[in-house]
Amino acid sequence: MISEEIKNRLISEAKKVSQNAYSPYSSFQVGAAILTIDGEVFAGCNVENSSYGLTSCAERNAVFRAISEGKREFTAIAIYTPTEKLTFPCGACRQVLIEFAENMIMILASDKNEAIFNLKELLPNGFSMDKE
Ligand code: THU
Repeated sequence: MISEEIKNRLISEAKKVSQNAYSPYSSFQVGAAILTIDGEVFAGCNVENSSYGLTSCAERNAVFRAISEGKREFTAIAIYTPTEKLTFPCGACRQVLIEFAENMIMILASDKNEAIFNLKELLPNGFSMDKE
């Protein structure tokens, strides 16, 4: 469960950061905003490269920013694209996110639609090392 207020805050941060996307090759802007367990928000946009495979997705940039600031526990992420259809995170980003929160709330938002999923639904049987 996530409050309307927090959900809207995450969507608005994701939308704001999507404007910084460096996407000259795809012209596809993505913004992500991840919420830590202590209520902080870290945002990231996609960053492309002329060597296409080096492109880094918005979701990973957001979570890596948070990790770099010492945060390790997350409850939700919003992913925004300025489109009609919702954008689902790529498989690589799902796997990176599940490392930190199996039950992360995934808020997908576009200009016309909004939906909420649980990360486990989007990545059933994701790989994990037994850390116990
Ligand atoms: N992209 C993301 O940032 N996140 C996703 O979940 C899907 C794809 C970016 C990568 C690339 O810059 C552009 O969208 C087109 O693939």
